[in-house]
Amino acid sequence: MTEIPEHLLNRSKARRASASGESAGDSAPAAATPATTASAAPAKAAEAPKPKTVAPDPVYVKAAKSRHKIPFWAMSGLALLPVWAALYLVAIKPAEKVVAGPLSIGATQYASCAGCHGADGAGGAGRPLYQGEVLKTFPRIEDMLNFVYNGSQKYVAAGIKVYGNPNREGGAHAPLSYNGNPMPMQGEKAGGALTEAQILGVVCHERYTIGGADPASEEYKDEYEAWCSPDSEIFKALEAGSTSFDTIEKDFAMLAVKPGVVGTTPRASLSK
Ligand code: HEC
Repeated sequence: MTEIPEHLLNRSKARRASASGESAGDSAPAAATPATTASAAPAKAAEAPKPKTVAPDPVYVKAAKSRHKIPFWAMSGLALLPVWAALYLVAIKPAEKVVAGPLSIGATQYASCAGCHGADGAGGAGRPLYQGEVLKTFPRIEDMLNFVYNGSQKYVAAGIKVYGNPNREGGAHAPLSYNGNPMPMQGEKAGGALTEAQILGVVCHERYTIGGADPASEEYKDEYEAWCSPDSEIFKALEAGSTSFDTIEKDFAMLAVKPGVVGTTPRASLSK
């Protein structure tokens, strides 16, 4: 075993004491007692690190200690941050365009027709419209708009013997020929309740959704574009009141496929 020189023992004692927070001032002189008077100097030296260890905290430590901690009630707010982030992302996504074209208006409006014509257009108190039936009667949308606007009785009163296609497959349709009951007038000027835009909507619904016309087909694509697509200028103008069934023919003469007269009084079918 090697002897550890006393002054080293004293020094380490003093260090330990100062590290554990004890005042080295008390222990160092005590430890120094058995030593020679010369050990007063090492004792002083042992005292020297003391001010270093208890030196005032540097500014940044002080700042950290005195800084306010996050208050507990703020935690709930912080916890909701991810939720907020998710909502924010949803909110900044461009809103999906609501399609409010003729077909969507027509689907709603058809509720007032379904009682007589059936939810799927199979017929009942009113004629069947589905499986192409209504398209056979009205190859041209203008004639159908005019008929729905005015209803059967106005045709009878006007002395019009046949509505729709006179060469209809299965025989032309005469007013009051189905079960003796009339198709009630729908247009406002004819005594009904629907605006012209609503009538166009419901007629588009009956032709494309119920009747089965294919908007992409050679036969119907022009009609669909002009009258029933969500971008239909005619529909928009009817909704805005800048055209009417009586003036469509003139107002939209610039269209490649010119619309024929619709009219708010009963009229014979357009020749095809
Ligand atoms: C009160 C019952 C009733 C209601 C409601 C009704 N219809 Fe009719 N509809 C009839 C009858 C009856 C006929 C046959 C008319 C005739 O023989 O003169 C008919 C005929 C039709 C025709 C001609 C079909 C063809 O091939 O000849 C169309 C188109 C039509 N209705 C559309 C509509 C639309 C659109 C609505 C709703 C806005 C509607 N109907 C509401 C009873 C009704």
